[in-house]
Amino acid sequence: MKSYPIAVIAGDGTGPEVIREAIKVLDAAGQRFNLKLNYSHYDLGGARYLRTKEALPDSVVEELSRFPAILLGAIGHPEVKPGILEKGILLRLRFELEQYINLRPVKLYDQRFCPLKDKQPEDIDFVVVRENNEGLYTGSGGFVFKGTANEIAIQESVNTRRGVERCLRFAFELARQRRGGQPWRGLKTEDLDAGKKSQLTLCGKTNVLTFAFDLWERAFHAVGQKDFEDVRRDYAHVDATTMWFVKNPEWFDVIVTDNMFGDIITDLGAMIQGGMGIAAGGNINPEGASMFEPIGGSAPKYTGQGVINPLAAICAGQMMLDFLGEHKAAQAIEAAVVKVTREKIKSLAAGKMGYTTSQVGDLVAQALQL
Ligand code: IPM
Ligand code: MN
Repeated sequence: MKSYPIAVIAGDGTGPEVIREAIKVLDAAGQRFNLKLNYSHYDLGGARYLRTKEALPDSVVEELSRFPAILLGAIGHPEVKPGILEKGILLRLRFELEQYINLRPVKLYDQRFCPLKDKQPEDIDFVVVRENNEGLYTGSGGFVFKGTANEIAIQESVNTRRGVERCLRFAFELARQRRGGQPWRGLKTEDLDAGKKSQLTLCGKTNVLTFAFDLWERAFHAVGQKDFEDVRRDYAHVDATTMWFVKNPEWFDVIVTDNMFGDIITDLGAMIQGGMGIAAGGNINPEGASMFEPIGGSAPKYTGQGVINPLAAICAGQMMLDFLGEHKAAQAIEAAVVKVTREKIKSLAAGKMGYTTSQVGDLVAQALQL
């Protein structure tokens, strides 16, 4: 039997409720596929911060770096000033563990959950590769004359050739793998040259951010030309990207973008796939400790009521197994989620599912045993 050590940070708000269900489903998958996940629970988040005044001890970062994967519930507490936990825990882990990819699949499992008119599951199936260590998130910048009428606030976007290139390479590889030789089925099929089977879209703002996205664009074409001739290259400005997400989401296959744009477009992506109840992501260091999370946050107003949707956390668990190389178990979880969302769940929104949080976990775990 294969076993994996997994660090679990249930975190704040509804985090522990959804993580409990994710673990229930992971263990059911473990039983079926003969895997053992050994969980180590870490008490991190707002409650601990309020108690100890320390968000994340250095020794814990060191310990976490030794796990192949971390499962995270949610970070965010109504009594802690915005920024402290985000920067002190979530962003610090992303940076220090060099999780330089934030991978966010956007996949519609049932037409009933899509707010877009006439879009089917086959129209909404793409992945956003968000750069996760640079851009506007590094904390570079500062104030001048703070608190005076002449105050200046500068927030700089950091884009290194190395950081951009490793992100692009990951995205190209993913595009290549995803289609696995299938002709890409987007509307632009007629544009495809024979033999070019998958598509990577660079989402940027080359018309205004003429330094940052100049570097991105040059690196994009250089890497693509040199090593990924089989992947069709496409470009969209970020504002147009949000428009296409609503109008023609079927145009996308894999999208690569910087940290800030990736943050923004993936919230829109989450909405077109049915909302925060189902949206999961992975903070990936391809060679190190990667961290998987539902992207919805701690939802304080639903905490403790058993009404939050655990499917996003369950899907985060699925992504984690996939990352660990347990593709069959990951596929089985996805199939179970699809079955339960299609056949049982009334709505993906908290409180409207027609089931409690733990009942949804039970349904998915049962579907896995079939
Ligand atoms: C996300 C979140 C974080 C981000 C916040 C909580 C710092 O919005 O994971 O998308 O901006 O990356
Ligand atoms: Mn976000």
